[in-house]
Formats: sequence, structure tokens, C-alpha cells
Amino acid sequence: MKLVRKAVFPVAGLGTRFLPATKAMPKEMLPVVDRPLIQHVVDEARQAGIEHFIFVTGRNKAVIEDHFDRQVELEMTLLERQKQKALDRLRYDLPEPGTTSFTRQQEPLGLGHAVWCARELIGREPFALLLPDVLVQHERGCLAQMIDAAREAGERANIVAVEEVPRERVDQYGVVGVGAAKGKMFSITSMVEKPAQERAPSNLILTGRYILQPEILDLLATQDRGAGGEIQLTDAMIALARTQPFYGLKFDGRSFDCGSKVGFLAANVSYALARPDIAPGFRTEIKKILAELNGG
Ligand code: UTP
Repeated sequence: MKLVRKAVFPVAGLGTRFLPATKAMPKEMLPVVDRPLIQHVVDEARQAGIEHFIFVTGRNKAVIEDHFDRQVELEMTLLERQKQKALDRLRYDLPEPGTTSFTRQQEPLGLGHAVWCARELIGREPFALLLPDVLVQHERGCLAQMIDAAREAGERANIVAVEEVPRERVDQYGVVGVGAAKGKMFSITSMVEKPAQERAPSNLILTGRYILQPEILDLLATQDRGAGGEIQLTDAMIALARTQPFYGLKFDGRSFDCGSKVGFLAANVSYALARPDIAPGFRTEIKKILAELNGG
């Protein structure tokens, strides 16, 4: 049996940093080049062999469900206009029938609460959690790298993707303490949410990709609200780490925090430059803009 079959995508947040773009449209539908953020992370999960895609949605998010459904009228039009390539691509992007599930968070009470809302769909098995506003650009996706590493970690292990940031920025993230090495991973000795620089156990931060054991759901069920009045996933992970192994994996690839405007714009530039059909024209435009800015 596969180590991880199900993936959870929390998409119920308000996306306030992207207002007014996110007033009537979910943040997760913002495109990086020509694919919505949520499609990029579903692609990553499919590459990792995930078989069931669980979305935790909220009000104004119905368009995400429509995105992962067939659009028969559009398909007919593409067929009539002999746009076979576009049609093939649409079909290829769609998960198999019956492999997507949608549940509602009802109120955005935090990431931990969003994960807990998926408990009936997750059941009692390990699951992957992918934050759709983080993209990792690499030929082998971040989750696939984590599942490769998970084979060395044993059945009851929790694994989180981590990356280095400059010390002066650790207070914006969840930070982990580094213990003994285990293959490509290391065991995690502590986790602190948004620590002051001098209290941070390292400069390695949680990136938004997790493989978690189902016991996290029991902890989330009884957890009080933490920072910002939200039910924090990190608090539940800290509690789980007392009874189960937790490992960190420094993944290969570059991450983009698409929840921030600069990260989102940088992702668009980097993904466009990696696309052979777009890169040459786009490179010319960027050069022009930079030359004009530099007065040349
Ligand atoms: P963020 O905190 O980055 O998203 O959560 P946000 O709250 O939508 O954004 P801002 O800060 O207001 O701009 C990371 C992911 O977790 C989901 C979000 O949709 C996002 O994909 N999330 C967050 C939930 O599903 N529920 C929540 O209660 C909070």
C-alpha cells in the first residue's frame, strides 16, 4: 500500500493581502503564468502519486470546485474550432472522476481548524498537507521528494519541508530546531511559531508542505485558540512531536510565498522564464523595462 494516498488543500482563507483582487475571486485562483495557484499544487500532488484530493473551502470559493470539473460547453467549442491541443491539456489537468472531495470550513478560524474540518475525509491514515499559496519550483516536486524521504523514516513518522531564510526574517515564520541526521532528513527537536530572532532555534522555517499522522486530528479537536485567536497547526504539531517522530527535509528547489505580492510576482517571472513557449518574448520585455528604469 502507498505510504500517503490523500492530500489536503486548505483554501478557505480570506486572502486579505490581495484585496481587492480577492474580493470576489479566491486567492488560490490567481494565475502564475496561465495556471491557477491551486492547479500548480494539485500538479505537485499528482506527481507525488496522491490519489485523493481534499479541498477545505469556504464561502466565495465555489469556482475552485468548478475548476476541477469538466466544462462541457467549452470542450465542444474547442472541438468545433479544432483546438485539440488546448482540449487535451484541459483533460490532462483534470483529476480522475471521484478523486476530489470538498468540505467547508464555515469560518476561517486558522490553518489548524481547516485541517480538522477535513477529518472525516482523511480518516485514520497519514496524509499530505499542501498550502496552495506556496509554490516550489523544481523538476521533482517538493511533495514527491518528501515521499521519497519518508520511505527511510518509517511508518509513524511526520515530515515537514523546511528551508533556510536570513536570520533577520525568522520572526515571520514557524522555525524548527535541528537534531540528528537521518538519511536526507534530520530529526526536529523543537518548533516555534514566529520567534524573536534571539529565541529562534535555527534559521530553518516550515515551508507549507507536510506529511502528518492522523493523530494530529485528535490534538486539533481539543486545541485552544493560539496566536491571532486562530487554531494553529504548529501548536498541534508541537504536541504530536512529544509522542511521534518528526523529521525535517531540506528540499531541492526554490520556493515562492505567493501569499505576498512580491513572492507572487517573483513566481510569475520565474515560471514564465522556465516556459520555452514564453521565455524568449518575456525576456525581451523584461530587458526593455529594466533598461527604461535605468534610463537607457
Ligand atoms: P494564509 O494565512 O496565508 O491565507 O493561509 P489567508 O488568510 O487567506 O491570507 P491573508 O493573510 O488574509 O492574505 C495559508 C493557506 O491556508 C488557508 C488559506 O486559504 C491559504 O491557502 N486557510 C487559512 C484556510 O483554509 N483557513 C483559515 O482559517 C486560514
